[in-house]
Amino acid sequence: MKIGILGGGQLGRMLALAGYPLGIKFRIFDPVEHTSAKQVAEGVTADYSDISALESFAKDLDVITYEFENVPVDTLKVLSSSVEIRPSIDALLTSQDRLYEKELFERLDIPFARYEVADNSQQLSKAVEQVGFPCVVKTRRQGYDGKGQRVLRKLEDYNDQLWQELGSCNLIVEELIPFDREVSQVCAFDIKGNSAPYPLTENVHSGGILKQSTAPSSISDSKIARQAIECAEKIATEFRYTGVLTVEFFVAGNRLIANEIAPRVHNSGHWTQNASIASQFENHIRAVSGMPLGATIPKGFFGMVNFIGKTPSIEDFVEPNTSLHIYGKEDRPGRKVAHANCFASTQSELDSLVLRLSKIIE
Ligand SMILES: Nc1ncnc2c1ncn2[C@@H]1O[C@H](COP(=O)(O)OP(=O)(O)OP(=O)(O)O)[C@@H](O)[C@H]1O
Ligand SMILES: [Mg+2]
Repeated sequence: MKIGILGGGQLGRMLALAGYPLGIKFRIFDPVEHTSAKQVAEGVTADYSDISALESFAKDLDVITYEFENVPVDTLKVLSSSVEIRPSIDALLTSQDRLYEKELFERLDIPFARYEVADNSQQLSKAVEQVGFPCVVKTRRQGYDGKGQRVLRKLEDYNDQLWQELGSCNLIVEELIPFDREVSQVCAFDIKGNSAPYPLTENVHSGGILKQSTAPSSISDSKIARQAIECAEKIATEFRYTGVLTVEFFVAGNRLIANEIAPRVHNSGHWTQNASIASQFENHIRAVSGMPLGATIPKGFFGMVNFIGKTPSIEDFVEPNTSLHIYGKEDRPGRKVAHANCFASTQSELDSLVLRLSKIIE
């Protein structure tokens, strides 16, 4: 079995590394020649619109998946004439635009933050007025790691250049949720629609970028956690979804508010790599290749710390119960270059381990 992966970042690398023990081979497509995933698998380097490169990429593949949200949908349409694409193109299309995500949530009766759309500067000023303060202005497309966003806490934070400053593109204005915690539901769906949710994971962001995740969340036995799984299942049903799906949420009091979806393995699920179960990467590979899913509920307490901008040195990892994953990328400010997973037998041990790991590159 050979799987094609669109996108050559660290998620593609970790998908391939998880698939090799299952005897699966991989081919990676990315417009950039030297990428994290291409260090561990055969690669094709071409523009996403290069039809003949797409044809040679697709040759002999059993299935194609993606690890990057912004693969052009037209690329997938070209490929789908010869090879099955999993998860479905509709899921990817929806995740590429924040407005489509909100419309999905509304259609499926999943709570989300109040918002207005703005397609020009005048509409932006009106939308900010309607949503009120505090709010967050976001580009509808291409945003990641908090890029393309501006938080407005008061009227003085708004200026007439804001629309240009955010790239003169379609925007949405969202109420800023005073959340108690951020959580994500990572869930695998096999080809028959069976679901295998991982425990609800709690996430800490800084400047819009994920810093650390811990699981199970302290609310993983609550009604909210059950709602999070239901939301993921509704979305999967809507898209006849096969693969790993992630839904990010805010929790405010007893309210669960959906933020966005990722039709792929997710940074908040990296801890599953060292949790003596089938990791999110393994389960994504199992799902898209038509195999049954592996177990997703581990015993213990798990954490993940992201290393952003600077790759830590292996010598610094003397802690027991930790595992370092380096992506083979050049260090650059704001770039995710590695993560460490860790586990403990109690929540407080885990908390102090995560704290120590997070100080390694400070
Ligand atoms: N409406 C909101 N209310 C409160 N905080 C928010 C809101 N929207 C975004 N944030 C904060 O900014 C972070 C990044 O926002 P969001 O997930 O929308 O963007 P992104 O750039 O697509 O991130 P990702 O890297 O997850 O793709 C959130 O995890 C949260 O901490
Ligand atoms: Mg997000």
